Amino acid sequence: MCGIVGYIGKRRAQDVLLSGLSKLEYRGYDSAGVAILHEGAFQLEKSVGRLSVLADRLEVDPLAGSQGIGHTRWATHGRPSDANAHPHADCSSAFVVVHNGIIENYLELRDDLMARGHQFASETDTEAVAHLLEEHWTGDLMETVLRALRDIRGAYALGIMAAAEPGKMIAVRKHSPLVIGIGEGENFIASDIPAVLEYTRNVYILEEGELAVVTAAGVSCFTLEGVPVDYKPFRVTWDAVAAEKGGYAHFMKKEIHEQPKAVRDTLSGRLLDDGTRIDLPELGWSEAMALDIDRIHIVACGTSYHAGLVGKVAIETLARIPVDVEIASEYRYRNPIVTDRTLILVISQSGETADTLAALRGARARGNRVLAITNVVGSSVAREADDVIVTWAGPEISVASTKAYTTQLVALYLFAAYVAKLRGAVDPQALLTLAHELTEIPEKLEELLDTAPVIEEIAREFSAWSDAFFLGRGLDYAVALEGALKYKEISYIHAEAYPAGELKHGTLALIVEGVPVVAMVTQDDVYEKSLSNIKEVKARDAHVLALAWAGDTQTHKSVDRVLYVPRTIPFLAPLMLIVPLQLLAYYASVARGNDVDKPRNLAKSVTVE
Ligand code: F6R
Repeated sequence: MCGIVGYIGKRRAQDVLLSGLSKLEYRGYDSAGVAILHEGAFQLEKSVGRLSVLADRLEVDPLAGSQGIGHTRWATHGRPSDANAHPHADCSSAFVVVHNGIIENYLELRDDLMARGHQFASETDTEAVAHLLEEHWTGDLMETVLRALRDIRGAYALGIMAAAEPGKMIAVRKHSPLVIGIGEGENFIASDIPAVLEYTRNVYILEEGELAVVTAAGVSCFTLEGVPVDYKPFRVTWDAVAAEKGGYAHFMKKEIHEQPKAVRDTLSGRLLDDGTRIDLPELGWSEAMALDIDRIHIVACGTSYHAGLVGKVAIETLARIPVDVEIASEYRYRNPIVTDRTLILVISQSGETADTLAALRGARARGNRVLAITNVVGSSVAREADDVIVTWAGPEISVASTKAYTTQLVALYLFAAYVAKLRGAVDPQALLTLAHELTEIPEKLEELLDTAPVIEEIAREFSAWSDAFFLGRGLDYAVALEGALKYKEISYIHAEAYPAGELKHGTLALIVEGVPVVAMVTQDDVYEKSLSNIKEVKARDAHVLALAWAGDTQTHKSVDRVLYVPRTIPFLAPLMLIVPLQLLAYYASVARGNDVDKPRNLAKSVTVE
């Protein structure tokens, strides 16, 4: 996982590359570099640390030239260092390469190339590609790249230039995303669309196993066998500012505040205007298809997995289909029990998560139908699944996922209702209530966001502690898991979620005077039980913040503070509860002086195992 950009045209390449890389830092940010071709020779500038370090160096010593490639790295092979930062060159600096992915047979390649006299300057898998190009050089860059690729196993998106062929850049995609930005008298390559939006809205997403030859005048695409392919660029309609911070201190804060709109957009066209009917026109399933499903396996990672836990309850409650929720990195190496009637539902914000994609491919190879819920239309997951429900959250830049989670929940509720209706499994009145309540969610989220100042104050107090516990039962527990993940990943405070009834089986030993506990009490059927669990931690002098429905009259008697959330049906509680939990994590991270949008050791899009 890393970010790639490339530019060829008339502008100063370093400016375009730095601007593009700044939009891709969410893909990795432990080092960055550029290679710019000028007067027949490559100039390389690379540095460990954030992109700003590289930008500062280039400001002092700018590089001339209007053709270059750049990279922002998330280390996989070789620690973060200047030497391991991309681009990488061969022995004679005749070729430069940037790469996203993993070259699986790089050790073998490296030994072989070293035996042939090649000198390696880094510990990366990528450098082997540069030396392979040198080894295979035929005098024609595209032909040389195609030959070199035959030796490589693994996943890659590559940007390549050769000093002997100025005015040309090669882009290749195999299992890692890559887009081409098509301008006038200039062209671009990038790992993701926001990197080129400042310059062009005409974009082509390279297909799996495609190679593009990019010059300032045009772009030609080929298969990896060298056969020309037709390609059709599309016009990006979303606004470039949507990918910018828009006045907020951090992308995460902006994205939390975008949730009412993201939910509204995700509901749009799927709830009739009068709020009475739920539909997913993009699926167009028949009753027979819905009735045929014997079981659903939901497969995802991290936050998307947590959304899946809510999805299980939604689908089982409404459609009465048994659902298992599985972590993709586990699922892909299991031999799951499925029949040809089992539906695999993968959830992925980015649509590029390696484990989720592998699980999807495994499922398809077993002959199962795959439905994907994703936020990225042109992503690998979206392209390889049989059916897709897009969450219209817009680009999510902050590493910590927020609006993607909320919209995944919306998509899952809609899907549960859709299948339930097709199967005739649910009382039509219950669906009407659900549809009506869903239409009101965006407004209630807006109301909830107004509580931010109160949460900021609580977060400041909580952030002084090295632990926090998140408790709930049923759907409250599913949200507690996501609340704890959010809290730990950006505040770096140890946080754990527990089903409230499970505490006394061990965890209660960790409850000491003053320790922060966030307890959720929105599930009517276990309300009394949840309150007794809260009393158990209160009796050990924990500091308890409860999240309860507006109008709740009991909870405040058992806790230190209550944050009231606008009432909806308990079934939809996760859509409400998650907002204060996200804000709590956000403000705890700010209070600790952390880099909120780029938490240590993490990257936005995990395209490697
Ligand atoms: C946490 C977070 C991650 C992602 C996970 C899956 O805030 O963002 O846990 O949810 O890496 O990513 P996607 O949904 O892109 O497959």
